Amino acid sequence: MFSFKAISAAALLLIASVSAAPTPTTYDSPDGTVELTGVTHSVVAGLGGLRFDPDNVVAEVGDIVEWHFLKVNHSIAESSFAEPCKPVADGTGFFAGFNFFIQDGQAPNVFQIVVEDKTPIWYYCPQTNGNHCQMGMAGVINQNFDNQDFSLRRYKEVAATTGTSIVPPVQQGGAVIPNPNPNGGF
Ligand SMILES: *[C@@H]1O[C@H](CO)[C@@H](O)[C@H](O)[C@H]1NC(C)=O
Repeated sequence: MFSFKAISAAALLLIASVSAAPTPTTYDSPDGTVELTGVTHSVVAGLGGLRFDPDNVVAEVGDIVEWHFLKVNHSIAESSFAEPCKPVADGTGFFAGFNFFIQDGQAPNVFQIVVEDKTPIWYYCPQTNGNHCQMGMAGVINQNFDNQDFSLRRYKEVAATTGTSIVPPVQQGGAVIPNPNPNGGF
């Protein structure tokens, strides 16, 4: 049980951090400034096995997508649709790094990106130990639902044939931050 003293100290800390850090309303991307909507979509890596839950997210420009990580050692990397389990060829894709190793429960850090346009964003778990991407650990933001040739199902079918994943050389894009949800929720 928490003592009363611990609770009030935590409450004070919360008040202090809220007043010290106003929530940003815009996000500076390389292509300009994006107005943040205040909407966050949570995705849990490793919920229900080698998968992302939900693995198909529809988001507006200015929404945040936030990945939470369960055991044991997952990450995410952006890919193209055409080449599953490989980083985007021009080197501009995000990679969250292997910052989420946890033996049980949820890793203390999450990864966030801001959706900057409505182009589909494809991503995969680049963990080669256990072939996570080939096993179906991949997801999409803003899939084009009018064209099933470019579906997540199709992406996973091709992913299963790729043999092994490519781990991007450097962590980049997005932000690795402490889980902002109280009590470590999703
Ligand atoms: C997590 O996986 C990555 C990639 O396979 C590896 O480099 C790293 O050492 C692993 N971390 C731990 C703590 O095992």
